[in-house]
Amino acid sequence: MQKRIFHIESNDPVARDTFRLVLRTGGPVVMRSGQFVDIALPGFYLRRPISVSDVLPDGLVLYYKVVGEGTRLMAGMQSGAELELLLPLGSGFRPEKCRDNALLIGGGLGAAPLYLLAKELLALGKGATAVLGFNKADEICLADELRALGVPVHIATLDGSAGTKGFVTDAIAAGKPEYDRFYTCGPLPMMKAVCLALEAPGDVSLEERMGCGAGFCYGCTVITASGPRRVCADGPVFDKKEVLW
Ligand SMILES: Cc1cc2nc3c(=O)[nH]c(=O)nc-3n(C[C@H](O)[C@H](O)[C@H](O)COP(=O)(O)OP(=O)(O)OC[C@H]3O[C@@H](n4cnc5c(N)ncnc54)[C@H](O)[C@@H]3O)c2cc1C
Ligand code: FES
Repeated sequence: MQKRIFHIESNDPVARDTFRLVLRTGGPVVMRSGQFVDIALPGFYLRRPISVSDVLPDGLVLYYKVVGEGTRLMAGMQSGAELELLLPLGSGFRPEKCRDNALLIGGGLGAAPLYLLAKELLALGKGATAVLGFNKADEICLADELRALGVPVHIATLDGSAGTKGFVTDAIAAGKPEYDRFYTCGPLPMMKAVCLALEAPGDVSLEERMGCGAGFCYGCTVITASGPRRVCADGPVFDKKEVLW
């Protein structure tokens, strides 16, 4: 884990309240899907955790949604501005656990880490299908990017404005993708429904409010089947069997 300075190459809106942030730094960046960075923001005591969506030879791509003061500040940042990141943080997804075909299930910006995971799966010679859920069509992001990798994408929207009307579980039932393992990231109720509905083994990326983000404060502790675990350091990715809903 280290602190590194990145500069903003671009910071563009890509969907409703959603921004794509491209960061560059002086040298290689090594991160896996499911890991995250903790961003220091001027005027804020706590850093903001954001999942890595793609790794560039000398940088990172992140997606973030404006939900409060910190992300609102980020949305106003211009190209060339500097950000201090703590990285790499957390455990990653385990693409090597997939036998042949993976199902990637994202809710909202839970799609972001699944993009890098799809690249890792394809590099291992595995197949991948994505099912992405959003409230409305204007929130859809990363679907085209995943399709550009050759990953079939099924969309579910709660209001029916794109794809299957309903939840990701409805889109899975409609699309009937083939898979032997699933990987999911998104809101807890969605991931609970997915874990209860799918019999296949799976990796679940949990999200908790974080203090230090690096394993010291125990502020992000959740109770799992193996006892208390810190989401930031022992997760955020846990085996489906570990998560107590
Ligand atoms: C491991 C991890 C990875 C994440 N990856 C991403 C990502 O790729 N893209 C992204 O947009 N967001 C991601 N988040 C959530 C992101 O960290 C928060 O949205 C952000 O910190 C909010 O900062 P803020 O100052 O704008 O909002 P705040 O003012 O801090 O909070 C605004 C609202 O957001 C809620 N909130 C804040 N932090 C969290 C959190 N960690 N979990 C659930 N609700 C929260 C608050 O309860 C409140 O309702 C991730 C969080 C974790 C723990
Ligand atoms: S946020 Fe401090 S231990 Fe996880």
